[in-house]
Amino acid sequence: MRIVFAASECVPFAKTGGLADVAGALPAKVVRLGHKVTVYLPLYSRVRSLLGEPSYALRSVTVPFRYYNRFAGIVDGGIRAGVQYYFVECPELFDRPELYGPAGGDYPDNAERFAFFCRAVLEATKILGVPDVFHVHDWQTGMIPVYLKTVYSADPVLSHAASVITIHNIAYQGAFPPVTTEDLLLPWEVFTMDRVEQFDCFNFLKGGSVFADMLTTVSRKYAEEIQTPEFGWGLEGVVSGRAARLRGILNGVDYDQWNPATDRLIAANYTPQDLTGKRACRRDLLTAFGLDQVADTTPVIGIVSRLASQKGFDLVSHLGEELIARDAAFAVLGTGEPAIEGFFRSWAERYPDRVSVRIRYDDALAHKIEAGADIFLMPSRYEPCGLNQIYSLKYGTVPVVHATGGLDDTIDEWNPSNRTGSGFKFAVYDPAALLGAIDRSLATFKNKIAWQILMRNGMEHNFSWETAAAEYVKVYEEAVELAGTPE
Ligand code: ADP
Ligand code: GLC
Repeated sequence: MRIVFAASECVPFAKTGGLADVAGALPAKVVRLGHKVTVYLPLYSRVRSLLGEPSYALRSVTVPFRYYNRFAGIVDGGIRAGVQYYFVECPELFDRPELYGPAGGDYPDNAERFAFFCRAVLEATKILGVPDVFHVHDWQTGMIPVYLKTVYSADPVLSHAASVITIHNIAYQGAFPPVTTEDLLLPWEVFTMDRVEQFDCFNFLKGGSVFADMLTTVSRKYAEEIQTPEFGWGLEGVVSGRAARLRGILNGVDYDQWNPATDRLIAANYTPQDLTGKRACRRDLLTAFGLDQVADTTPVIGIVSRLASQKGFDLVSHLGEELIARDAAFAVLGTGEPAIEGFFRSWAERYPDRVSVRIRYDDALAHKIEAGADIFLMPSRYEPCGLNQIYSLKYGTVPVVHATGGLDDTIDEWNPSNRTGSGFKFAVYDPAALLGAIDRSLATFKNKIAWQILMRNGMEHNFSWETAAAEYVKVYEEAVELAGTPE
């Protein structure tokens, strides 16, 4: 099969979150199963500086809008691990410092930027190769299924292509004013409640979810959750209406990047059989965070996260003093919403010998935390999959998580009587329940033998992409079979 991936971020080119890890790892695994995969990404300024002098596959692809045309260059990124990369160039839209907007916000022309990207990809494939399946991700590429089933439905080549949309996070929908319909040259008949209209907005994710042939999301639990009002952010009706075509496929981990036995970004390597290196990693982490005075018997709790309300740090700020009353130190890395950044900064200022915070994006430091911390904290209000808790398992850093979405699917509660389980989780989203889980982890930490068993239980888990890639291939086959058939 031929598959085109269209994504707004992808490791190693441009990343703000887990979508980039997925788009970076999955294509090569699908190639290994015998398929041909091409990845399209916008050519952001940071990608331009990585690529150097562009080599064009196509000089000019026309994308019409209501009052003007825009033109895309298609830059050939070459083949890596069997995957062909193309970058969609349009300096006016993509040569900007951020992917989506300043400080967690949005650029005002994001509808145009990502609709342009989608349509440029479709036009480019007509020359460079139309796939059997377009695999699109989140709202930014949600217009591909919409275009395929509307303005391109009579196109002799594109009309045969199927599409699959993966919802990585249903809370981000790409909602724009109704006039977007005309700006994108779509017929007004798509602006209805059963198509792209949602609360009088033109909604990219809704459009993608309505028009794609198959839908996936990134864990089984989240596939169930998004069909409920609590987690569906208004799209629960759309998703549950298409439940027969929805699959929950847990993300894998790229163990070439995240493995304490081989990781070059950490102070010492270690394995489940020989954990001695982890001690050096802990010392290195404490030095990097200016926490050298922390006693060997005090557990270090790590956090690496986008600082968004999704991630549950309101619970941590609620517990601020109570947590300080415990014997634990905190190493926090993240950027995002100013209020959450502000809470962590002031917490660290008040308790400098116990809490240290780095407000930035820093991949090397993320690896140091995964390796050097004893406990990894992820109290997310909701979490479609979550990758950091899975990295933590591999690094013997015991996760404490809220039992939601992928966090619930990947972490089993430690059972001290039969010594099974890989972490600690709390069911009800409230501060007392989080504190309960943290207290269970701190109590277990004191028992060296139990703790080592718990660490090893996690380290022996394998969330490889091979399994997930095989499930995606099944979904592609279903999409091809179902394309155009009524539900
Ligand atoms: P989400 O996609 O919702 O942000 P995930 O857990 O799926 O959550 O993925 C987050 C990814 O982003 C991980 O690879 C994590 O290491 C990385 N990450 C998040 N914030 C930072 C940061 N400040 N510095 C380095 N890496 C970060
Ligand atoms: C989203 C989700 C996260 C998931 C990632 C990759 O950003 O918030 O839970 O792991 O996508 O699928």
